Amino acid sequence: MDKFYLVPLLGLLIATHVVAGHMVCNNIGIPEELESLEIEENEVELSEIPSWKSQRGGKVLVNVDSFSAVGDGVSDDTQAFQKAWDVACSTPKSVFFVPQGRSYLVSATKFKGPCADKLTIQIDGTIVAPDEPKNWDPKFERVWLEFSKLDKAVFQGDGVIDGSGSKWWAESCKKNKSNPCRGAPTALTIDLSTAIRVKGLTIQNSQQMHFVISRCEAVRINGVKVSAPGDSPNTDGIHISESTNVVIQDTKIGTGDDCISIVNASSIIKMNRIYCGPGHGISIGSLGKDNSTGIVTKVILDTAVLKETTNGVRIKTWQGGSGYVRGVRFQNVKMDDVSNPIIIDQFYCDSPTSCQNQTSAVKVSEIIYRNISGTTKSAKAIKFDCSDSVPCSNLVLSNVDLEKQDGTVEAYCHSARGFGEGVVHPAADCLTSSDKSDELAESIAEDIRHTEL
Ligand SMILES: *[C@@H]1O[C@H](CO)[C@@H](O)[C@H](O)[C@H]1NC(C)=O
Ligand SMILES: *[C@@H]1O[C@H](CO)[C@@H](O)[C@H](O)[C@H]1NC(C)=O
Ligand SMILES: *[C@@H]1O[C@H](CO)[C@@H](O)[C@H](O)[C@H]1NC(C)=O
Ligand SMILES: *[C@@H]1O[C@H](CO)[C@@H](O)[C@H](O)[C@H]1NC(C)=O
Ligand SMILES: *[C@@H]1O[C@H](CO)[C@@H](O)[C@H](O)[C@H]1NC(C)=O
Repeated sequence: MDKFYLVPLLGLLIATHVVAGHMVCNNIGIPEELESLEIEENEVELSEIPSWKSQRGGKVLVNVDSFSAVGDGVSDDTQAFQKAWDVACSTPKSVFFVPQGRSYLVSATKFKGPCADKLTIQIDGTIVAPDEPKNWDPKFERVWLEFSKLDKAVFQGDGVIDGSGSKWWAESCKKNKSNPCRGAPTALTIDLSTAIRVKGLTIQNSQQMHFVISRCEAVRINGVKVSAPGDSPNTDGIHISESTNVVIQDTKIGTGDDCISIVNASSIIKMNRIYCGPGHGISIGSLGKDNSTGIVTKVILDTAVLKETTNGVRIKTWQGGSGYVRGVRFQNVKMDDVSNPIIIDQFYCDSPTSCQNQTSAVKVSEIIYRNISGTTKSAKAIKFDCSDSVPCSNLVLSNVDLEKQDGTVEAYCHSARGFGEGVVHPAADCLTSSDKSDELAESIAEDIRHTEL
């Protein structure tokens, strides 16, 4: 371990900031734990799975066509998929195979594990959903393709998962206030699974969210593309819930809602090289709806481009919630004409009826924004709108430079504590720095003694 070993995270954050002012140590005002939070590809226990095409390693090909799938985009191939799944799942080293060049119409289906060892799901063709909400089986209200209870499985291929969502969008209450507000299916769900890899694949035009990872542990997503029109309602790209140790890399997402959203009970989430737009940005939350508890910790976004999104990096919580968001690093982000590049919104209210202010709130602390630059559409390039009763604390802005094409930019703070270091434009003088000056003065002194800076 290094010299920071004994230093409490919070104390270090403050102490190093104070010291950095004197020592010009640019890199140091960041909590060490967060700084060193790296999640490497190879941390997941996944044995090297050879491509089925090589036919080495004794792979068993389970082609949906062998189960009478038609693949003309019109015939119902649900049963063929289900039968192929049953065989693939019960056969060690099998490849559930959807061949390229065809389009398979598949209704809502649950692909259940546990399965035999070393399952590969190879999707090279297109899987399309029936497009008529009226005919959707109400038993599958919120899912289209759901995989559950898998361990060490690989999803890969150049194929497309297409939710045919346009009629669902038209029926959304977001599109037409006279429609009832109800949920629509998620195109691809991976639930209750461990050590999962997803490579390639395009997920598009989902009925609602595109790709949900729920109750999972150790997930690696690489080179996935997600796309839907910018005005399609609630079509989040990748949604992570109750999951830990998730890495999303080299992923391009453009939808009508959050490109990535991370909600309750999620921790150790890393997003690397993300392109987002159109969409609502990269979000933690929403959390705390209906007085619920929301906890999200240890999240890193590193290297991202957000283009013409309504938000950049966002934390959103409802009034009345509890729990906390703690230990988040957003870094190396380029904003291109983004409406709210940096935003914490603790008055989030995505409801047809208005929301009341309450005293309880999800506590937001230890959030670092580092090397974030580009252009903002709104004047308030930095907006920290925190709960009156539960202020945000330890917000750190480090080398942030946001410009507006025609006009000046400003930072807005409400009940937000923290500080800036290096270049911070617009200047975030509105952050109150009581964290470092008052209540923690003692621990700062203590930490300086321990850090040997
Ligand atoms: C909204 O829905 C109502 C009832 O279904 C319909 O009569 C109306 O034409 C719709 N409005 C728009 C703008 O589509
Ligand atoms: C948040 O996650 C915890 C732990 O998994 C769970 O007990 C709780 O019900 C979740 N809250 C909500 C609102 O889903
Ligand atoms: C949340 O708690 C507040 C304050 O106790 C209460 O007024 C409100 O009805 C609760 N809301 C829900 C959805 O339970
Ligand atoms: C800052 O972020 C940009 C991406 O927006 C990246 O190209 C650049 O290398 C970063 N600078 C440093 C010092 O890491
Ligand atoms: C809630 O509190 C915020 C901040 O104090 C205030 O700006 C807003 O008007 C309040 N909203 C309601 C509905 O009272």
